Amino acid sequence: MKTIKIDLGSRSYPIFIGQKLFKEYNLIAEYIKNKRVAIVTNTTIEALYLDEIKKLVKHQEILSIVLPDGEQYKNQESLTYIYDQLLSNKYGRDSLLIALGGGVIGDITGYAAATYMRGIDFIQVPTTLLSQVDSSVGGKTGINHSLGKNMIGAFYQPKCVLINIDVLKTLPDRELRAGLAEVIKYGLIRDKSFFECLEKEMHALLEKNPESLMHAISVSCENKAQVVSEDEFESQKGIRATLNLGHTFGHAIENAMGYGNWLHGEAVACGMVMAAYMSMELGWLSIMDFDRIKSLIKSAQLPINPPAIEKNQFLDLMQSDKKTLNGQINLILLKSIGHAFITNDYPDSALFETLSQNF
Ligand SMILES: NC(=O)c1ccc[n+]([C@@H]2O[C@H](COP(=O)([O-])OP(=O)(O)OC[C@H]3O[C@@H](n4cnc5c(N)ncnc54)[C@H](O)[C@@H]3O)[C@@H](O)[C@H]2O)c1
Ligand SMILES: [Zn+2]
Repeated sequence: MKTIKIDLGSRSYPIFIGQKLFKEYNLIAEYIKNKRVAIVTNTTIEALYLDEIKKLVKHQEILSIVLPDGEQYKNQESLTYIYDQLLSNKYGRDSLLIALGGGVIGDITGYAAATYMRGIDFIQVPTTLLSQVDSSVGGKTGINHSLGKNMIGAFYQPKCVLINIDVLKTLPDRELRAGLAEVIKYGLIRDKSFFECLEKEMHALLEKNPESLMHAISVSCENKAQVVSEDEFESQKGIRATLNLGHTFGHAIENAMGYGNWLHGEAVACGMVMAAYMSMELGWLSIMDFDRIKSLIKSAQLPINPPAIEKNQFLDLMQSDKKTLNGQINLILLKSIGHAFITNDYPDSALFETLSQNF
């Protein structure tokens, strides 16, 4: 097992990563002591892992709050359902929520914890690769609004994150690949040796080899931990913004294609190739680096070419992404593999040309 610490002063917390962690009571004992525990999950994960987590917690009384499965339920109605369950069972300020699931459950549970009785403790137990390497770490919580994704939320850190890699055995392959896009992202933005390691390990990762997964998840979390420790609240032009590599392109693709048709990680993978291409066209990135990026993403069986979206619509969608200030699109671009930067200083023609490229 590996422990990574997120360094945030009084809000610091550990991330535990390993196999068979649902049998390690001692990892969570101090956080659940004297707490009334409620587990928030969805119908898919309930069937797979709820009993194991209940056994892990050991308490006599555990409230299970089970939501329907899907991004469309990351909304106000589900949030209200969580509050209703907690209130009707007289859960007070001594409550602790456990988020058992992927990023949808993690985000909504974190936000419920941030707001219920002005803030109660919570633990993240992420069950998708994406949530293990990205959404469960760093304290962004929230729900969607009908007018935009993740528009209501709060920064709120968990007490600990329990990453049991065994759960990935049941994760559909397509979801695994989508998570790999975020793993590759860390190599691209700040860790060249990790990128090189992924070039060698991609096959083993797709096969869900436990050692390879353990390594990729640990290094991803270490990278995210360092970024978040430096820039917890994503200051303007701060280092945390570089985590959005490929995301402004990707969000536009997700949105244009209708949410759910392209998974987030698939859209981000393609968005990273687009950002790399634009970086190359602007003279920042070498052709060799661009080719390596494209090959790695391809080897993860992720898309590298954008779907046919009319260019002006693509631009509009990029502009309405919340990372845009005064209509100027901030983009994360690459100087080399392992070195990303944020800029809005580029000719519009370079962006426009990128939108219709095939790679
Ligand atoms: N807070 C953040 O920093 C942050 C970062 C990135 C993404 N997100 C959010 O995360 C969400 C996406 O998360 P996701 O990709 O984990 O999707 P998800 O939570 O929808 O999970 C994907 C699917 O896999 C199923 N599943 C989960 N674990 C499983 C397992 N072990 N075995 C079998 N099936 C399993 C789920 O039930 C679901 O159907 C989005 O809402 C996104 O906005 C948040
Ligand atoms: Zn992402």
